[in-house]
Amino acid sequence: MKSALCNRFFILLPWILIVIIMLDVDPRRPAPQLTSRPYFSPHTVGCGGSRVPLRRSSPGRDAAEKRNESRPQLQPEPRLPTIYAITPTYSRPVQKAELTRLANTFRQVAQLHWILVEDRATRSELVSSFLARAGLPNTHLHVPTPRRYKRPWLPRATEQRNAGLAWLRQRHQHQSAQPGVLFFADDDNTYSLELFQEVTSTRKVSVWPVGLVGGRRYERPLVKNGKVVGWYTGWREDRPFAIDMAGFAVSLQVILSNPKAVFKRRGSQPGMQESDFLKQITTVDELEPKANNCTKVLVWHTRTEKVNLANEPKYHMDTVNIEV
Ligand code: UGA
Ligand code: MN
Repeated sequence: MKSALCNRFFILLPWILIVIIMLDVDPRRPAPQLTSRPYFSPHTVGCGGSRVPLRRSSPGRDAAEKRNESRPQLQPEPRLPTIYAITPTYSRPVQKAELTRLANTFRQVAQLHWILVEDRATRSELVSSFLARAGLPNTHLHVPTPRRYKRPWLPRATEQRNAGLAWLRQRHQHQSAQPGVLFFADDDNTYSLELFQEVTSTRKVSVWPVGLVGGRRYERPLVKNGKVVGWYTGWREDRPFAIDMAGFAVSLQVILSNPKAVFKRRGSQPGMQESDFLKQITTVDELEPKANNCTKVLVWHTRTEKVNLANEPKYHMDTVNIEV
């Protein structure tokens, strides 16, 4: 009986060892890629494109990377420009949802500095606590739009974008400009991570297509021999720069060397703000086409539908107070 048990044990032993080895090997397999890492892997960007490494500051991600030592270690390159995203934002039921989507995107980009400008007389508690937990380098500004400009037919967020520009100029006032690129990121748009790779290589002013805008599936700069020669748009082709706010980036150097370039209220109409601003800092001939000669849509001018709050009680009825 004893020797029969012994025999069985020695027959099973190699199998037990194999199972133990397999269990040991399994966790070392690369984890499924939850982020869009391929855009930033050294293998995919090795051929020409500049590299925007993933941000590595979040404790969750660092822990995940330590678990998987076989992954290439991506270190931020010191010469990469800081990407400044200026986002005007205002209080409404969907605000936190919009900011959450945006932060989830921005958090994946290294060296992105988020300049969030509230359309308010004071900083709101909601945005302050949101930013405190967002895990992103940020600057929280606020400036209210004067009431006379709060009209549906007037341009939005003029004062907020200017506050962002003023902060940038002030911050870089006394130092020789660090490499930096700025773009205007409205809080309701949708951004592909590939866009940041394109933005990074901006020398002066770069442009690219924008999806779901101007009454068409997309608008785009028309490019010939590497130069912008016109605009594909369904709305006001006569605009000097027929481009949405989401369709261009400007180097920090250009912002600093044109200290008076701002968004203007006087005489400006919705849809003309971009042209009015770009006219002050560049010419169509100078524009740098990105996104494969402006043939790829990497940002969408999405708009969130107004929420139905028809059944929201007039007075607070729940037993708890929940921030939404
Ligand atoms: C279009 C353009 O894409 C915007 O860049 C431009 O500012 C705007 O028109 C305009 O009317 O001038 P659209 O989707 O119509 O955008 O505008 P919103 O997304 O409603 O507003 C643009 C940005 O301004 C958003 O980030 C929004 O949060 C902010 N905003 C809007 C304010 O800060 N205050 C407001 O009262 C309204
Ligand atoms: Mn919008």
